[in-house]
Amino acid sequence: MSVPLNQEVDSDDCLKEYKYVFQRDLLRGKVAFVTGGGSGIGFRIVEILMRHGCDTAIASRRLDRVQTAAKKLEQATGRKCLAIKADVRNAAEVEQAVDDILRRYGRIDILVNSAAGNFLCDAENLSYNAFKTVIEIDTIGTFNTSKAVYQKYFKKNGGNIINITATLAYRGDALQVHAGSAKAAIDAMTRHLAVEWGPDGVRVNNIAPGPIKGTEGMRRLGGKSPVAEMMYSSIPLKRGGQKCEIAEAVVYLSSDASSYVTGTVHIVDGGSWLTAFNDFSMRKQFLQSKM
Ligand code: COA
Ligand code: NAP
Repeated sequence: MSVPLNQEVDSDDCLKEYKYVFQRDLLRGKVAFVTGGGSGIGFRIVEILMRHGCDTAIASRRLDRVQTAAKKLEQATGRKCLAIKADVRNAAEVEQAVDDILRRYGRIDILVNSAAGNFLCDAENLSYNAFKTVIEIDTIGTFNTSKAVYQKYFKKNGGNIINITATLAYRGDALQVHAGSAKAAIDAMTRHLAVEWGPDGVRVNNIAPGPIKGTEGMRRLGGKSPVAEMMYSSIPLKRGGQKCEIAEAVVYLSSDASSYVTGTVHIVDGGSWLTAFNDFSMRKQFLQSKM
């Protein structure tokens, strides 16, 4: 069935009610580190991991954002959430964050790389620095956290890395050369790291969401415009996705249900990338209409 199990909340708040697919204590005793966990898809991933018994740490550039999120998450789930200020582009800050998490919890079992930056812009008008910025946040940020967590904990203890990527590069989405290139590089990184770190018991997988409602990503890429509605109606499953539906996929990849799965990309998009509209001139017109 393509009917979502849970009633979503568009804002960065916890669900009013949660219907379980998996066992409640599936991740009891585990610790997850989620970058970009203070908002959007990352926030919901943290919430659902915590609802399965996990303690968490969340990091982003704005301390107030992650602190507010951590309070809401602890209240709703009864688990612990450590808020950390760190820019994933800065390897020293990332290393410090990992040290702080290990000092607080003594372990890390799951790393979710959800921090990212994106906006619509055609390649000709994209500044050199704009391209570089998105590559630095998405690709280099993912490498920085993966390497720091591997060296400081996963190498000896094993673990699970889940990167949130996108389907943008599969068909060369117009106005998305920066994010598409950045996420495609993460898909490649996933396979390289799965090969090198598999012998240490580290699994590395990706989830590629389609258009997910109630997120900054969708607000920037279409929002409530007619284009967004057109996009949703062109999707085989005929709707936008829910943050919850990405979080459920993270729970699967974090758990022993996926114990023989590594180096893969799980597309969670209702079939969107197969049929989504991708005409350059029409997309450019849409961008101009927003300016
Ligand atoms: N269109 C074109 N270029 C843009 C842009 C836009 N909408 N927004 C920013 N840029 C350019 C800037 O002009 C700058 O280039 P320049 O120095 O040549 O002028 C470059 O990108 C970096 O911008 P800056 O604001 O300095 O970067 P930042 O590191 O402070 O922020 C961003 C990073 C730009 C990705 C910002 O949008 C962000 O913080 N995003 C996080 C949230 C997000 O994107 N969520 C959706 C995830 S899918
Ligand atoms: P979002 O709420 O804006 O999430 C991005 C998060 O990353 C923010 O919490 C932001 O917090 C953090 N961040 C940005 N730059 C950072 C940096 N340099 N260092 C540390 N943290 C940083 O957007 P979202 O739409 O939910 O996206 C979440 C993930 O899903 C992203 O990886 C995105 O590419 C992916 N995705 C989303 C969609 C969608 O439809 N929304 C579709 C496909 C893929 P700060 O600003 O506080 O740093």
